[in-house]
Amino acid sequence: MFFINKKKLKLVAPDLTYKKSFLKLVQKAVLSSEKIPWFIEYSLYDFEGIVKILNDNAENKSLKENEVQSSTYFAVFGKKVAGVINIKHRLNEKLKIYGHIGYYVSLAYRKKGIATKMLQLALVESEKLNLDTVTICVDKNNIASKKVAIKNDLTLTDEFFDKNQNIMIERYSLKLRKHTE
Ligand SMILES: CC(C)(COP(=O)(O)OP(=O)(O)OC[C@H]1O[C@@H](n2cnc3c(N)ncnc32)[C@H](O)[C@@H]1OP(=O)(O)O)[C@@H](O)C(=O)NCCC(=O)NCCS
Repeated sequence: MFFINKKKLKLVAPDLTYKKSFLKLVQKAVLSSEKIPWFIEYSLYDFEGIVKILNDNAENKSLKENEVQSSTYFAVFGKKVAGVINIKHRLNEKLKIYGHIGYYVSLAYRKKGIATKMLQLALVESEKLNLDTVTICVDKNNIASKKVAIKNDLTLTDEFFDKNQNIMIERYSLKLRKHTE
């Protein structure tokens, strides 16, 4: 057990200075049976390359077909990475079933309110990006992720069967305020 002060959690752009801590998160993740985003696993082989891809994607550079601009953040306490969160700036037909925001919390930091706080911070970033509405699509059986969405005031809008993953998905959404600065 260790004490954490969630007020100190920050979202930062991926950066080489987080390599050691991020690879710890990845090593734990690959040893688990959970499905993890591709870039998390791939970073074990080429962390520098992944950091470049993620930061390029945030700037709308080097996107492949069917990819849209997206901002990825490491959720950090100082130099320690507790999780990762990604915001798609818009959805295309293919991405509609995945939603705007996806997140992953290190196994070492679970059940401490990190995902809830990460999403709260990501919603502020989404407002700055001028997103009108955010949607999050969650496996109906993923109780923790559903709670994270609900605790951040997202509401269930619909559910559907995803035949690629063979699971029922619940879609949660929240209308955002317009950001003026
Ligand atoms: C889902 C996930 C992000 C939750 O992260 P977390 O930091 O542990 O979540 P929080 O601590 O903010 O917990 C939110 C709520 O879920 C509950 N919770 C957390 N893990 C849980 C679990 N395994 N089973 C049941 N409830 C759980 C917490 O108790 C809390 O509820 P409470 O406020 O009523 O106490 C994390 O388990 C994860 O990364 N899973 C793999 C990737 C994933 O599923 N991402 C979501 C895709 S949309």
